[in-house]
Amino acid sequence: MPSMPKITVNAQRVSDELEKLARFSDHDYPAVTRIIFTENDIKARDYFKSLAREAGLHVREDSIGNIFVRLGDESALGAIGTGSHCDAVPHAGRFDGTVGVFGGLEALRALKTAGFQPKRPIEVVFFTSEEPTRFGIGCIGSRIMSNTIALDKVAALRDKDGLSFDEARGSAGYKGTVESAILPKGYYDYFVELHIEQGPVLEREKKQIGIVTGIAAPASFRIHFTGEGGHAGGVLMPARKDALVPCAILIQEAERLAKASPSPDTVATVGVVKVHPGAINSIPAKATVEFDIRDIRLETRDAVVTAVKTLAKRLADERGLKVEIEDINSDPPAVSDETILKVAEAATETRGYSHMRLPSRAYHDSLFIARIAPMGMIFVPSKSGYSHRSDEYTSPEEIGRGVEILAQTMAELSLR
Ligand code: GLV
Ligand code: MN
Ligand code: MN
Ligand code: MN
Repeated sequence: MPSMPKITVNAQRVSDELEKLARFSDHDYPAVTRIIFTENDIKARDYFKSLAREAGLHVREDSIGNIFVRLGDESALGAIGTGSHCDAVPHAGRFDGTVGVFGGLEALRALKTAGFQPKRPIEVVFFTSEEPTRFGIGCIGSRIMSNTIALDKVAALRDKDGLSFDEARGSAGYKGTVESAILPKGYYDYFVELHIEQGPVLEREKKQIGIVTGIAAPASFRIHFTGEGGHAGGVLMPARKDALVPCAILIQEAERLAKASPSPDTVATVGVVKVHPGAINSIPAKATVEFDIRDIRLETRDAVVTAVKTLAKRLADERGLKVEIEDINSDPPAVSDETILKVAEAATETRGYSHMRLPSRAYHDSLFIARIAPMGMIFVPSKSGYSHRSDEYTSPEEIGRGVEILAQTMAELSLR
């Protein structure tokens, strides 16, 4: 069995790279908005690839823009995978996802510098579109890689300007069939993602490293109401078929149901409401409301989903409106692999870092990679639990510790 060399991570280098990356954004620093296949996303990709090549690592891209950087020779064994995303929701921070991509690269560089010879190749992935911003559904790259999204569903994806996923990837230089991005069976033997916590638990519990036990399951759907427009002064209340009012009732009800759920992990969010024609003095003729409902447990999540949909139909009936419910996704939760958790815990013990187990309440590409490989995640603290906002913060030291644990965990797994 090859011995484990001393792995030294350059925490300052990763932090400097993350600072530079944050400048590839549609909004001013420290806010980051980076939408998949736009100019700033392409700049982020080029920056990542150039750093990987500078480090003498092998770079490969698939037909949908997932970028794979590898350490180690081809092997009959599956690879050890890591990685995350660099796309960022509007006015997000600079650490969500990026820590797992550039931290993953730093882990490979540290292992290479240490002269580590993996038995299984070690690979970091820059995933395409973890965030649902442009095409309405998250984790497009990992869904396709793991063959958990139908190809006709991918072909039907459109952005707000009507551009298809195919057209968008083509404009970024990604050609070839979507199907070719599906990973062959046994591609990964283990997959470990490093990510910021995006919640307050590690900071509150004063723990340096989080060992993630599972990933909460998101369900999202759109409800479209069609009523009758008209003049805000001219149409008296009994004659109205306002399409927006039922959306307001549903938003309130989703909040009540999530709060009343027997699971403390049930959360319901409405971040998008669209109103037509959208004038202060016109009755809404059409309205769309989008729900994001999550839980660690499927039953309690689905109870809220079903109740919201049932109420939507009842409100439409009572108010003489047309209603259409459009499912976006409904994914099962993922449970982490115990071997990965134990290896990661042992690595934190060896380095003397405090740690705890916790679930991930945000979703990640690992939710889908878990369908094709044993999966685990490593969390580093988020200041005040902030994420998806520009004051998201994790210190260079905290990131460095996460990269050390990631590198050590992958090295151990690669020799098994
Ligand atoms: C992705 O970032 C999510 O959890 O919404
Ligand atoms: Mn995010
Ligand atoms: Mn993320
Ligand atoms: Mn996420």
